[in-house]
Formats: sequence, structure tokens, C-alpha cells
Amino acid sequence: MNFELKSLTPAQAAQLPADALLVALPDSLPKAMAASPDALSRLAAQALADIDPGAGQALSCYRVNGIKAPRVVLVRAGDGSAAAVRKAVAAGTAALRQNGIERLALVLSLLPDDAAAVRMAVQACADASYAFTTTKPSAKPRALKRVTVGVTDTAAVRAGFEVGKALVTGVEFAKEWANRPGNHATPSHLADAAKALGRQPGIKVDVLGPKQVAALGMGAFMAVAQGSAEPLRFIVMHYNGGAKGDAPVVLVGKGITFDSGGISIKPAPEMDEMKFDMGGAASVLGTFAALAELKPAINVVGLIPSCENMPDGLAVKPGDVVRSMSGQTIEILNTDAEGRLILCDALTYAARFKPRAVVDIATLTGACVIALGAVRTGLFSPSDELAAALQKAGDTAGDLAWRMPLDDDYAEGLKSSFADMGNVAGRAAGAVTAAKFLQKFASELNWAHLDIAGTAWKSGAAKGSTGRPVPLLLQFILDQAQAGPTRKAARKPRA
Ligand code: BES
Ligand code: MN
Ligand code: ZN
Repeated sequence: MNFELKSLTPAQAAQLPADALLVALPDSLPKAMAASPDALSRLAAQALADIDPGAGQALSCYRVNGIKAPRVVLVRAGDGSAAAVRKAVAAGTAALRQNGIERLALVLSLLPDDAAAVRMAVQACADASYAFTTTKPSAKPRALKRVTVGVTDTAAVRAGFEVGKALVTGVEFAKEWANRPGNHATPSHLADAAKALGRQPGIKVDVLGPKQVAALGMGAFMAVAQGSAEPLRFIVMHYNGGAKGDAPVVLVGKGITFDSGGISIKPAPEMDEMKFDMGGAASVLGTFAALAELKPAINVVGLIPSCENMPDGLAVKPGDVVRSMSGQTIEILNTDAEGRLILCDALTYAARFKPRAVVDIATLTGACVIALGAVRTGLFSPSDELAAALQKAGDTAGDLAWRMPLDDDYAEGLKSSFADMGNVAGRAAGAVTAAKFLQKFASELNWAHLDIAGTAWKSGAAKGSTGRPVPLLLQFILDQAQAGPTRKAARKPRA
């Protein structure tokens, strides 16, 4: 799917040779428009009174006199805010989905110029027309080939448009990999996907296998992988858009390509959804795909510990004690709390980059789904500054997060008689105790944790990856780039 940005008046949109026009309507049209002689302005002015006012309410028209495109969908876009435009474009694109439209014009010219709205329109159009076809030959592929976004072309609008396009690349990369079944997205497959990204200018990828991970002493990560016939992979990605000595942002993505629970096996219903347990990894890959396109001036490192969590004669058992790369020992009381075990070693590894910030992204706990549902990602950080930056990035990108607590009292339940810590702490506040576990490996880092268990995919009839939190992560990185470089520091700044 190709997007192009074009300055389009309503009169010019009416003459555009497209299969369909999707026209976003503001709550009130400029007075001049009602009197304007062109067919599209007239239609919009007349239709406004006949469409319910809620953003996303639509009216479909066919072969309107004076409009070249055979189909016109008029859709209410409320106050023209990014959130309202998102709803409008999503509804309008869905309404046109059945018609095999190849050439669409998204007419935003009736709205006030707004870079954030243009960016969101591009994303919403891609989102509503997305189709996963890799393992379903009978699926109807996306028909859309060319989308013209009609606006008043200004530098700010164009910048928003470019970010929107890069986000489509990133989100769709993440969706593709997260949606692939476990047997089509093994740790080795993920490593190959990363290597393919590594062929783009500015990106470098190294993949470590079992021997190298053993040499690093990643005993927690290895313990999870040992029950699977698929060899683990530790993927290390570099995006170098900044100067050589600039401290990078490090993203750490949980890459469990299937989580059966291991010996602490999960119940059968919905276990298939545990193929999405590499959603954090997919979001890191997707963010790198977007970085390759946008090329911001900043350094970013992506770390993906990837393996399966399986039960087996050789699998790790409840009660086993392992030694993490940090030297801290862990009693594995529940083999289903595996995400924190692979992440803790990756966090220890992250310190070598002397990062300005480390953000881990993980489908970590069912408890986070209970706490926040599918609306907001759980955000944890001991740093008010980093938490605020991530929250703000999510707000800007329409990819929301909510800060959760990290009081030390929550770590009480992690105490163990046989190791420095246990890997679980009972049912209460499960999302927080998981974060407290990770925090024990991040004491030297300016660290935040995103629990995306509720937001990374949708269940039910429309089951599939959302591509979240690629928009939040990319926005965070762009904001950091904007703030300017920081030199590599030996330790995290004091809070
Ligand atoms: N991948 C799961 C978390 C998960 C569960 C995400 C359901 C989305 C939906 C994770 O590895 C896990 O199994 N967590 C356990 C932790 C528990 C054993 C402390 C959980 O949430 O039940
Ligand atoms: Mn698990
Ligand atoms: Zn898991």
C-alpha cells in the first residue's frame, strides 16, 4: 500500500480519478463551503445534517453528480482531533473494505490542518485495511494499493505524514511476526527477520546462539529454553543514527515464541494465544523497521531474548535454582513465570551499552490484563522523568499507557529460602510483583518496563496482533532524539 500526500481543495478532490473518496467532515463547515459551487462541498454541506454527530458516523453515496470517484463515504470527524479522525478513518475504511477499492482518496481538506490528525489518519487507514495472509491462502488480501491523503500541504503536516507512514511500516512488521503461528515464528525465524532488517542502511544485527549465551552466564534465560527442541536466540540490534559516543536508548523485547507454561503447564483453553508471547520482541523489530525509514539522529539498541517455554524431560522444574548473569540466584517456583527469567539476563546485558534509558516490553502477566484491560499498557519505572516521557509519548501517539506503582513492599513475596529470590510472589498485584522482580536486575539502569499483556493482541472473532506499542516506542525515541544526545554515562543519573 502506497500513501501520497497532496494539497487538495474540495473542488480538486471531486475531480480526482479514484475508486472512492473518504471525506472527513468537521462538526461545522466553513460558511464559504456551503455556497461553494463544487459538488463535493455541496454534498458535504447537505449531508452534515443527516449524519449522526458522533465521530465515525458515516454515509455512503454512489455516483454523485459532479464527483469523479464512483463511491463517496462521508464520515463525521468530530472536532478534527487526532482521536476523532482516527475513529472516522477507521470506520470509513471499514465501510469500503468489501468493495475491493484500490485507489482511495482520504479527503482531510475540510478539517483544520493538523499534523497529528494526518499522521493518525494514515495509521487508521492501514489498520482498518490490514489482512494477515501468510498462513491463510484463502484470506482476502488488502485491496488498497494507493491512498492519496488530501490536505493543505505544509511542512508540519508533511512531517506528521512521514511519521505516520513509518509507523505503518513498523506496526505492520510487528503484526506480521506476532500473528505468525509458533511453528512459523520460532526463535530462529525471528533472528532471520532481524537479520533481514540488518541489511538496511544504519542497522546492524548480531545473533547469539546457545553457546554464546552460556558463555555470558545467562542461566535464567537458558533455564527457560532448556525444555524446548528449538534452540534459543539472543538478538542484538543496533540502529546508529547518532554520533558514535552518544548513549543509546535500549529496547528489550520478550521473545517467547510459544508459552505453554512449561512444567507449570497452562490450561488448554486459549493456549493458542500464547504464540503472541513474543509481542514485545515484535514491537522491537517493528520499531527498528520504522527507524530505518525515518532515520532520526539517535542511537538505539534492540535486545531480544527468544525461546520457547515447553514441558519436557529436560525442562526446568519448579523448585530448581538457577544463577542469572547478574550473579543473583533464582528459585523457579513457577515455570510459567518465564518472561521475567529471560528478561532479567537481557537487562544485565543492557548495562554494557551505558544507555540513556532502557525500556523492556513484555506480554508479562495475566494480572496486567485484569488491572488495565486492552486499553492501556502497564508502565512501571522508578524514575518519574522516564515514566512521564513514556506516558507522554503514548498520549502523543494515541497508544496509551498508565503508570503503576513499584513500592518496595511489593517485593516481600519474592523472598526465597533457597535462592536470592523466587520468581513469583502469589496472586495479589501480580503485574507489580513481576516488575519488582525485573527491577532487581535494573539497579544500575535508567529503566522502565511496559507490560503489554492486555494491549499486544485482540482475542475473539477479530483475533490478531495490534502492533502495539510500536507507536509509543517510536514517539519516545523521536522525543529523545529531539531532546539531543547524552554522552555515555558510567551509571544511571541520580534520581
Ligand atoms: N505470557 C504470560 C502472561 C500472559 C497471560 C499474557 C495471559 C497474556 C495473557 C506469562 O508468561 C505468564 O504465564 N505469567 C503468569 C505469571 C504467574 C505464574 C505469576 C500469569 O500471568 O499467570
Ligand atoms: Mn508464562
Ligand atoms: Zn509468557
